[in-house]
Amino acid sequence: MHTTTEERIIRPARNVLGSLRLPGDKSISHRYAMLAGFAEGTSRFTNFSTGADCASTLSCMQAMGAIVRRLENGAVEVTGVGGRLKQPGEPLDCGNSGSTMRMLSGVLAAQQGSFTLIGDASLSRRPMQRIQRPLEEMGAKIKLTEGHSPIQIEGAALKAIDFTTPVPSAQVKTCVLLAGLQTAGETTVREAIRTRDHSELALRAFGAQLTRTTNSVSIAGPQTLHAIEAAVPGDLSSAAFFLCAAALFPGSGLVLESLGLNPTRAALLDVLTALGARVSVLQHAELVGTVQVTALPEGLGSTEIRGTLAAQLIDELPVLAAIAPYTSGGIRIRDAKELRVKESDRIALVAKNLRAMGAEVAEFEDGLDVPGGQKLHGATIDSGGDHRIAMAFSVAALRAEGETQIQGAESAAISFPEFFQLLDLVAER
Ligand code: S3P
Repeated sequence: MHTTTEERIIRPARNVLGSLRLPGDKSISHRYAMLAGFAEGTSRFTNFSTGADCASTLSCMQAMGAIVRRLENGAVEVTGVGGRLKQPGEPLDCGNSGSTMRMLSGVLAAQQGSFTLIGDASLSRRPMQRIQRPLEEMGAKIKLTEGHSPIQIEGAALKAIDFTTPVPSAQVKTCVLLAGLQTAGETTVREAIRTRDHSELALRAFGAQLTRTTNSVSIAGPQTLHAIEAAVPGDLSSAAFFLCAAALFPGSGLVLESLGLNPTRAALLDVLTALGARVSVLQHAELVGTVQVTALPEGLGSTEIRGTLAAQLIDELPVLAAIAPYTSGGIRIRDAKELRVKESDRIALVAKNLRAMGAEVAEFEDGLDVPGGQKLHGATIDSGGDHRIAMAFSVAALRAEGETQIQGAESAAISFPEFFQLLDLVAER
């Protein structure tokens, strides 16, 4: 249940133009916060995510003995506990953040002490057996509440396992790796579809050794972690809203600086190119780059997203579906059943809100067919308290006829508090 809901009016735009630098990547910030809190020494991060989700991770780590400071230049400094977290006096509140809850469970299962993890109403509906199963196989004592949080963990020494993830999930992979980090022997996680690899990269940055093959990653524990200093690249999943917005307006021009371009995250750039937008990486150093997107006079074409691509684009699918009516040939999405168990049932809510704007859309258990060549009108949008739905339909609203009201607009702050302000900067009216 939401206590406050804010409504935002989005007026149509004539064009999207300008240059922005976006706050730090949410996935990377979570991992840096968690590993820095666990490690030995003081880590410092510039451009750390400004979203409420990463603040949840920081406050959980703080409750277990890490020292967190916000520096004047906006950087976040974390002094870690050197591998031994303290039992918190109160339940660990993960807020709206599935990443915090699932990844932290892996850390805590191998610690000493009792830990309770709780979350908001949305998080308390999300599936948690996916982490319970591998952790129990490692010997962890972990209790759920009818498959959900609250989660109760009695920390214990674990045993290494060889685990194949049943759903493509970087959070599950990370959970097992973080337990494996603290466990004698070699823990292996195998995945049929390669999910985002920020945990593997972050663990290495903090000094851990991992072995990777195309479909697996192994960690031999126990290992210690050492503090780092790092700049968090701009969040590509937040950028997705702006890239899609710019792709909607022939003659648009948007430059996004210092974006994270990790190949396990950057599939959106290929999809926009396939749709007919012109995407250029203007500057590129070590997988961080400045990206420019321009829509051509003929507009966007059509595309189909399924299989590995669907898993790699999981957070960007709502906004792609929201712009699909404005393409000429539509967008088909399949193999995205996971969207139903995100912060909301994103398939159902995207379909409902597209229909509210007058669009035709077919809903499937694992995806959507959104025909192209449609004209939408402004409508009242039910964000369901889901940040990505609120932002996706703000983008759809730019090309609609008449104003759109986004209900529950405050949810954008979960990952991107600056969203509406930046949208106003680049949307020409
Ligand atoms: C994330 C992984 C994805 C994604 C989420 C962040 C991560 O979830 O949807 O926003 O940081 O590892 P799953 O691992 O459940 O697919």
